[in-house]
Amino acid sequence: MEVIIRPDKEKAMELVAKLIINAVREKPSLVLGLATGNTMEPLYAKIAEIHKREKVDFSLCRTFNLDEYVGLKAEHRNSYRHYMNEHFFNKINIDLRNTHLPSGTAKDLDRECEKYEQKMKECGGIDFQLLGIGKSGHIGFNEPLSAFFSRTRVKALTPTTIAQNSPLFDRPEDMPKRAITMGVGTILEAKRIVTLVVGSSKAEILAKAVEGPVTSMVSASALQLHSKCVVIADEKAAANLQGRDYYRWIFNNEPEWDEFR
Ligand code: GLP
Repeated sequence: MEVIIRPDKEKAMELVAKLIINAVREKPSLVLGLATGNTMEPLYAKIAEIHKREKVDFSLCRTFNLDEYVGLKAEHRNSYRHYMNEHFFNKINIDLRNTHLPSGTAKDLDRECEKYEQKMKECGGIDFQLLGIGKSGHIGFNEPLSAFFSRTRVKALTPTTIAQNSPLFDRPEDMPKRAITMGVGTILEAKRIVTLVVGSSKAEILAKAVEGPVTSMVSASALQLHSKCVVIADEKAAANLQGRDYYRWIFNNEPEWDEFR
């Protein structure tokens, strides 16, 4: 795992935007794993802006989102399908038929999860997985104790996650208590993972995920097992990391990051 610290959330987000754009330029038919949440909103706006300015072509790109709430129709303003269309897909030239999210209203949810895994496989697997980290340490909606070998399935949400996300609902009590999520095992199969974490509210959980023991109590700590994972954080989210100086040195000196300085 590599950790990159940028001075503020704009710089962190800009770096992730560039990595995604570069990946799409390198492989136009990129299979992109996507995340939702407040952290990603300005990121998607930034990518859309670069797409417009520099004519980046998303027409062949395929996407798979991490998760969707159980019980919300695609048209519901809090569904992740709605979020993705509003914040990203409608702003770039992607073919909506190439964008995938599990359906939270499928009659047979287990079958829906199996189909989702199958579709990913048919596309050759995820090339580039974008992640955020929830306050409970989740990636996707893999709440504490999610098996590291878990696949796409229905997961009950923790009180921490419900407290974090329910204010986004008109009536907070309407937030679903379950979600379909790719498993930790599914996520770990991505060829490359980029995790964006910003703000002081994430400092404690980020330190646990990156420098703490690998434990299913903190799903994001599973990322330590991945051979090509970078965590991009702003100074606020990085505040509790022991290795801050080393991580800053990496960004300032390693050739891999030359073009981004
Ligand atoms: C949701 C998503 C996660 C995301 C998390 C972080 O719970 N399921 O994939 O990482 O939100 O959200 P935020 O960026 O709003 O802190």
